[in-house]
Amino acid sequence: MRNAGFNIHRFDSLDSTNAKAKRYPPGNVIVAKEQTKGRGRFKREWNSSKGGVYMSIIVGVEIKKAKFLTLLAAIAVQHSLVKLYNIDAKIKWPNDIMLNDKKLCGILTESQVSGQEAKMIIGIGINTNNIIRSELSAIAISLHESGFDVDNEELIRELVDEFSDLYEKAHDDPQFVLKEWKRLSYTLGKRVHVLTQQDEFFGYAVDIDDECNLIIEKDDGKKERIVEGDIFTA
Ligand code: BTN
Repeated sequence: MRNAGFNIHRFDSLDSTNAKAKRYPPGNVIVAKEQTKGRGRFKREWNSSKGGVYMSIIVGVEIKKAKFLTLLAAIAVQHSLVKLYNIDAKIKWPNDIMLNDKKLCGILTESQVSGQEAKMIIGIGINTNNIIRSELSAIAISLHESGFDVDNEELIRELVDEFSDLYEKAHDDPQFVLKEWKRLSYTLGKRVHVLTQQDEFFGYAVDIDDECNLIIEKDDGKKERIVEGDIFTA
C-alpha cells in the first residue's frame, strides 16, 4: 500500500506535532521543522531544534489493537533506516530506536478514545541533522554525527509509506508485528535495570507478551510483567 492515503501537513515551527495532531482526523500526518515544546514519554522534554525529524501520524483503530501501533511505528522507523542508509538500528522496549547503544529516535503515542475506537497519535522524533546537546551526547546520537547526509523529506516519505505497508501486513498476519519486533529487539536477552513508578529491580529481558508488555526474569527466578517503565542495560 505505497503512498496510501496519508495527507502530510508541514509546518515551520509548532509547540508539538502531537498537540497539533489532536485537531486532525485519522489519515493525516503533521510534520514540523522544529518544536518549541516537544514532548517525550513521562512528560519529559524532547529536544526539538531545527534539523531533526518531528512528526505525528494519526490513525484510527479498535482499542484492542492500539498498543501494536507503537511497535509497528518503531518497526517502520527501523525498516526505513535500513532501506535508506543500510543502518543496523535496533528497537529498545518499548519504542526507542538505538544506534551504537545510543538513542536515535523516540516515539510517544497518545490516544483519544471514543467507544471501542481510538484515535492514535503516533509522535516520532528522529535525530537526523539536529545538534545533540552536549549534556545528552552520552545517551543520544544523530545520523549526521554518524556520517549520514539525511534528506529529512525523503526519510519522512519513506517512513509514512513503510508504516502504511506494515499496517496492511499486520492486518493480514496479526502475529507479524510481534515476530518482527522480537527480531529487531535491542532489549531481549539482555540483563536490564528496570525502573517503574512502583518498583526498581534487575533481571533478564526474556520476552514480550501478546499485549506488548515486557517480561523480565528476576534474579530470584520469578517473572515480572512490565506494562510501563524505563529499562536500562545493566
Ligand atoms: C520519548 O522517547 O520520550 C518519546 C519522544 C517523542 C518525540 C516526538 S517528536 C514528534 C512528536 N511530538 C512531540 O511533542 N513528541 C513526539
